[in-house]
Amino acid sequence: MTDNNTKQDKVQVARDDAITRVTIWRPKRLNALDVDVLEGLTEAVNEAGHNGTRVMVISGSGEKAFVAGADIGMMEHFSPREALEFSRKGHELMLALDRAPFISVARVQGYALGGGCELAMACDLIVASENAVFGQPEVGLGLIPGFGGTQMLAARVGLSVAMDLAVTGRRLSGRDAAALGLVSRVTAHERLDEEVENTIAGILKGVPQAVIEAKRLVKQSLHMPFEYGLSSEASSFANCFDRQSSGEQQPNPLSRQGGETG
Ligand code: COA
Repeated sequence: MTDNNTKQDKVQVARDDAITRVTIWRPKRLNALDVDVLEGLTEAVNEAGHNGTRVMVISGSGEKAFVAGADIGMMEHFSPREALEFSRKGHELMLALDRAPFISVARVQGYALGGGCELAMACDLIVASENAVFGQPEVGLGLIPGFGGTQMLAARVGLSVAMDLAVTGRRLSGRDAAALGLVSRVTAHERLDEEVENTIAGILKGVPQAVIEAKRLVKQSLHMPFEYGLSSEASSFANCFDRQSSGEQQPNPLSRQGGETG
């Protein structure tokens, strides 16, 4: 179902120096992903890629849901052609997050179903409340996950659990999602914001270029033979020492940590 709000109403962006906070604002629809939300999120990610953002936190409005899925009302009368375009729009967002030169953090409370689970998985880190509910219920609606779920699940939780989630629509609590490796951190609900801030602080402590290289290499490892991955790692490791050509004027972090040699 659509509403009269604009893209800017539905995707609210606040930037504070290196941190961009994005809130999906459709509380009455449990933040369901319609075309406006998908486009608004993709624009926010692309913009953040050029404005010095180092961490993006994506949240849902209200207490009940991160995102309760793709907008079912909108999909009800889709033709196959419209469904293809909608799926591709979702993929554009997931790819933008994948390639983004910053770390994305999904702050998940309540429902993260269907497209909500996929959006969370497309983020680099998921920080979840115990009250979170993850799942891919699409098969029950005669669908399959359309925003990358079939391609991201196994990387997060392994083939066995991925298959269980995809073919049965089984739901996972925040604690179970953490035990199975779907989420990075889980916490009591009242501590969720504190844990998100701890996560941000942990990311910001790292040297920016090193953090982004680490993201790139870890992601790449899923799709690359071990030998090539190691070769790529060695080149990146060497690049970390190429401070002069990168024009970096910062103090060398190795000097601060290394102490006396010999
Ligand atoms: N798309 C569009 N609207 C949605 C939605 C979605 N994915 N999920 C929830 N909503 C809307 C509901 O239609 C309802 O609107 P209404 O008040 O106008 O009737 C509102 O959000 C609140 O949802 P409601 O179902 O009343 O809340 P609940 O607490 O009883 O149940 C859920 C919450 C998440 C379990 C239930 O809404 C649900 O199963 N949603 C669909 C989840 C899903 O299948 N997602 C994958 C889609 S591919």
